[in-house]
Amino acid sequence: MNTVAITAVGHYAPEKVVPNSHYESYLDTTDEWIVTRTGIRERRFLENGATSDLGVEAAKIALAQRGIGPEEIDCIIVATVTPDMFFPSTAALIQHKLGAKNAWGFDLSGACSGFIYAVSTGVQFIKAGTHKKVLVIGADKMTSITDFSDRNTAILFGDGGAAVLLEPTDDPEYGILDYVNYMDGSGMEALHMKAGGSAIPSTEQTVKDKMHYIHQDGKAVFKVAVVGMADVSVEIMERNNLKSEDVAWLVPHQANMRIIQSTAHRMGIPMERVMVNIDRYGNTTAATIPSCLAEYYGDGRLKKGDNIVLASFGAGYTWGGIYVRWSI
Ligand code: UT7
Repeated sequence: MNTVAITAVGHYAPEKVVPNSHYESYLDTTDEWIVTRTGIRERRFLENGATSDLGVEAAKIALAQRGIGPEEIDCIIVATVTPDMFFPSTAALIQHKLGAKNAWGFDLSGACSGFIYAVSTGVQFIKAGTHKKVLVIGADKMTSITDFSDRNTAILFGDGGAAVLLEPTDDPEYGILDYVNYMDGSGMEALHMKAGGSAIPSTEQTVKDKMHYIHQDGKAVFKVAVVGMADVSVEIMERNNLKSEDVAWLVPHQANMRIIQSTAHRMGIPMERVMVNIDRYGNTTAATIPSCLAEYYGDGRLKKGDNIVLASFGAGYTWGGIYVRWSI
C-alpha cells in the first residue's frame, strides 16, 4: 500500500486587515481583553467573493509550488462550514474556477477539525491506488456567519483559505504516518448555527432572531477543547513512540492561544516548537492548520524530515490529530 505525502501547500489571506481596535470602536471590549483571553491581535476580512475564492487562490499557490496544472488533479475535498451555497458543493465551484477538469470532489463538514478529517479522507483515495493527486482545501469565510453585534464571538473569527496536495510517495519513512479522529455529537448545543438547515429552514423570523450566525458557549467549548486537543495529541505521540524532543512542530488549530499553550504543555513541547499565527488571522476554522503549514514551510522553519503533529478541536464536537514526517 502507498504512503501518502503532502507535496505542496498554499495559503491565501485576504488583503483587508482588521485590528482589535476596530471592535473597541463599537463594542464593549478592549484590545487588552482580546489579546490576553484569545491571543488574537488582528484578522482578515474577505470583502468581495466567497469561500470558493479563498480556496481557489490557495490552490493556485499550491499547484504553482508543485509545478503542475489544474487538470492533473484527480479529486478536490473542501473542508468548510461556510460553503458558497448549499448546493452545488464548494468543491464543484472550485473545480470550475480552477479549471481542474479531470477532478471530482465534495465538501466535508468537520468545522474546526475539517482539515484533519479531509486529509484523513484524502489519504484513503491514494492508499487505495485509485487516485494520484488529491487536493485538500480548508477554507472559511467566517465573516459571512458572524454576528458583529455579539462581543463574545465577533472578535474571534476571520476569513482564510489554505490547500495541500496529497500524492503517493515511494518512501514509507515520510509523509502522513498516522491519524486519529473523534466525534461527539452531544456537543451540538455549545457551538452551532441554529437555522438555515432542514431542522429550522430560513424564514423572515429566523433572520430577525439572528439564527443564522455562530452561537457559541465559549466557556463550555473551552473546557472540552483543552482536554480533547491535548488528549488526541498525546495519543498520537504515544501510538508512534514519539517523545516530546522528537516532535519538531506542534501544528494546532488556532482558536485560542490558551488552548494551544495548554496542549503544548501536556505534550511537553516548548512554545518555540508550536506553530502560531492566531495573532494575525484569528480563527479561520478549517484553514488554520494548513495556513500554519504554508507559512512555516514558506519561510524555511518547517524542513524535510521534521516530525509534526497536527491537532484540532471544534464544533460537533469533532477532534483529531495527524502525524506527518514532512517530505518536501
Ligand atoms: O474553533 C472552534 C472551537 N472554539 C473554541 O475553541 C473557543 C473556545 N472558547 C474560547 O476560546 C473562550 O471561551 C472565549 C475566548 C470565547 C471566551 O473567553 P473566556 O475566558 O472563556 O471568557 P468567558 O466567556 O468566560 O467570559 C468572561 C467575561 C464575561 O463577562 P462576565 O460574565 O464575567 O461579566 C464575558 O461577558 O468576559 C466577557 N467577555 C468579554 N469582555 C470583553 C466576553 N467577550 C468579551 C469581549 N470583550 N470581547
